[in-house]
Parts: sequence; C-alpha cells; structure tokens
Amino acid sequence: MRVVILPDAPSVARFAAEAVASTIAAKSNAVLGLATGSTPLGAYHRLIELSREQKLSFKDATTFNLDEYVGLGPTHPASYRRYMNENLFTQLDIPMEQTFVPIGNAANLLSECEEYERRIADAGGIDLQLLGIGTDGHIGFNEPGSSLSSRTRIKTLTEQTRRDNARFFASFDEVPTSSITMGIGTILDARSVLLLATGTGKAAAVQAAVEGSLTASIPASALQLHRAATIIVDEAAAARLERISYYRDSESERLRLGLNQ
Ligand code: PGA
Repeated sequence: MRVVILPDAPSVARFAAEAVASTIAAKSNAVLGLATGSTPLGAYHRLIELSREQKLSFKDATTFNLDEYVGLGPTHPASYRRYMNENLFTQLDIPMEQTFVPIGNAANLLSECEEYERRIADAGGIDLQLLGIGTDGHIGFNEPGSSLSSRTRIKTLTEQTRRDNARFFASFDEVPTSSITMGIGTILDARSVLLLATGTGKAAAVQAAVEGSLTASIPASALQLHRAATIIVDEAAAARLERISYYRDSESERLRLGLNQ
C-alpha cells in the first residue's frame, strides 16, 4: 500500500485528477471506476481543467460508478447519476452511453446488479478505480460486515451512512435505506485503486483501514490485499496514522529513486 500525505484537500484533488489524466493519456480507451460524495468533487473540477489544458479526450473512455441509491431514478437531484452528469460527464467529451451508474430504480434490481458486473467484464475490467471512504470504513456502499469477496449487489445502508449523507436530502427520512454497490471483490479486481480522504472526520477510518487488521468490519482494510492501492490523504485525515513518518520517508525515497515518473 502506498500512502501519500499531502498538505490539504486541494492537493489531494490535484493528485487524483493528474492520476486520471495520465491514465487517459497513456490509454485513451481506459476504463475508469468513479466515486461520488464530497471528496472527489475537487478532483473532478481539476480533471475538467486538465482535460482542457492538455486537450485530453475521453471519447474512447468508459466509466463505471461505484454505487447508486435504490429507489432514486437518474434525474432525482440526489441520485449519483445526476451528480456525475452535472459534475463531470457533461463537461468532458465522453459519450453518455459509455458512462455507467447502476440504475437505482431498475424494474429488476437483482438483474441490474448482475448486468452491471457483466458490463464491467465486457469492457475489459477497470484500469483505475477512485474511492472515498465512509466514516464507518465503507468503500462504495460496502458497509461494515460486507463480504470481502462480494460482487455488485443490494446493500442496506447503516444509520451512520444515512446520517452522513442526509446533507444531500431535505431530511434524514428522505435518505434511501438501500443501495446498489459494486462489491469489495469487484473493487479489488480493478488494476489500480486510489482512495482519497480529507478532513479529521476520516482520520479514524483511514488509520483502521491502513494500519488495522484486515477485517470485514472495516471494508476499506480489504485494500491491504490489493497490489496497487494508493491512499491519498491530507494532513487532517492522516493525523491518526501511527507510521506517518515511514510513509513520508517512503515518498521521499520514491522521489530520490525517480519512481514517480
Ligand atoms: P464523502 O463520502 O466523500 O462525501 O465523505 C465518502 C464515502 O462515503 O465513501
């Protein structure tokens, strides 16, 4: 696991945007796994700027989002499809039909989950997966207790997640109680993974994921099994890491050895 500690949230956003931009620059038909929530917003903003500055085209790229609320259609203001359209897709040249977000109001939710897995496989698998982390340690909507080999499925949201996300809804009662989410196994199949975390609210979850035991109780700890997982945190989210000076030394070594090119 590579742990990169940056001064602040804008630096985390720049790092993530540059990682996506260089993935597309190296492979124009890359398959990107995308996340929603507050954390990746700055990264998407910077990615749009980079795509203009570097004349990067996303016309051959394909994207798969991690999750969607059950019951919310694509035009619902709090749906993740709407978030992605507004914050990213409509500002890139990616054809909408190459962007996939689970359909939260599908007539048959179980076949939507199976179909989503099949679409990812048909696209050749995910090259780079962006992740946030919940205060309860979730990735996607894989709540504590999720099987570490789970695939895309329906997952009940914890009360803590519903409270954390209530800010996007008129009231707590309007927050959906279930989601469709890629499984932890689906996420681990991505060729590389970038988890972003900012702010003191994430410090405990980050510490448990990076330095705690591998456990379904902290779904993000499953990234300890991944061969190419990078955790990008600001100082606030890094505050509880016990091996913090080692992570800083490792980054200095990478620089000294020219491994960041
Ligand atoms: P946030 O959500 O970026 O809005 O904090 C992260 C998550 O729940 O995965």
